[in-house]
Amino acid sequence: MADSSFSAPDAGRPPAGVDTSRAGIARVYDASLGGKDNFEADRQALDAVLEIAPGMCAVSRRNRAWLRRVLRYLAGVVGVEQFLDAGAGLPTVSNTHDIAQLVNPWARVVYLDNDPMVSAHGRVLLETNEDTVYLHGDLTDPAVLGPDSSVWRYLDQDRPVAVVLGSVLHHLPDSADPAGIVARVVEALSPGSYVAITHFWDPGEDSPDHELAREVERRFVEKGLGSGWYRTRAEIESYFAGLELIDPGVVPLDEWWPSGPVRPPETTEERLILGGVGRKSGLLAVQ
Ligand SMILES: C[S@@+](CC[C@H](N)C(=O)[O-])C[C@H]1O[C@@H](n2cnc3c(N)ncnc32)[C@H](O)[C@@H]1O
Repeated sequence: MADSSFSAPDAGRPPAGVDTSRAGIARVYDASLGGKDNFEADRQALDAVLEIAPGMCAVSRRNRAWLRRVLRYLAGVVGVEQFLDAGAGLPTVSNTHDIAQLVNPWARVVYLDNDPMVSAHGRVLLETNEDTVYLHGDLTDPAVLGPDSSVWRYLDQDRPVAVVLGSVLHHLPDSADPAGIVARVVEALSPGSYVAITHFWDPGEDSPDHELAREVERRFVEKGLGSGWYRTRAEIESYFAGLELIDPGVVPLDEWWPSGPVRPPETTEERLILGGVGRKSGLLAVQ
């Protein structure tokens, strides 16, 4: 099994293709989790958000905790053996392969991301774990999960796959049609597959939290990062079209299969993200 305590491929020097003068989503997220794979521009973009939403680092931690619970459910309770983590981010503690392969040492995990720094770290991992693969790919490219995609070189399309889209769809603009992208993924999956999604949530104008959602979105989109949209519950639920939602549905992250008493959000920011898991039904259900 891979050692997840990655070090930068060439410590101190950014990998080829990484523009350190501009904030990058994966690196800003890494900074929010207390990681070391980020640069000044990333920390500045994070600071601009923390100025008005100091709970955003807690949002990242809640998102990772959600991922751990969902993976334990999918690899353990349901018994899925293949995982596609799309918009995977930089390796941190408890990555998808760490959790899935702890439950099932033969679980196969494909990571996909469009950030060159993520790919560089992925190559390090590739050398240590033959059941884990990092691919460079952009979710907005229709070919990335098409019939000729390299994803299917590593995953058996005829067997169930769990696709994890953790905190990535809110980085895709409406013009990229996030719902259409998920629909294409779902179409490619065999029955018995799962799709797990977390997404920033705008609870709507009637909610006292609406204004903060809009303000944080402006910071994300306008102050260096260029993306980070808060969408409505209806929009987020639409990403599960054609899937059967697993209980308890699309809910605040800590309400999804809590492993103990729910720790209520301590800041408004922590309330502004939802997560859910959907299953593609069919005769080939996983037991
Ligand atoms: C906020 S991080 C989330 C990481 C991880 N999924 C998690 O939930 O902890 C979002 C990741 O999505 C990646 N990403 C953003 N847009 C993408 C795209 N169009 N295609 C592939 N990856 C993308 C970023 O590079 C970043 O690594």
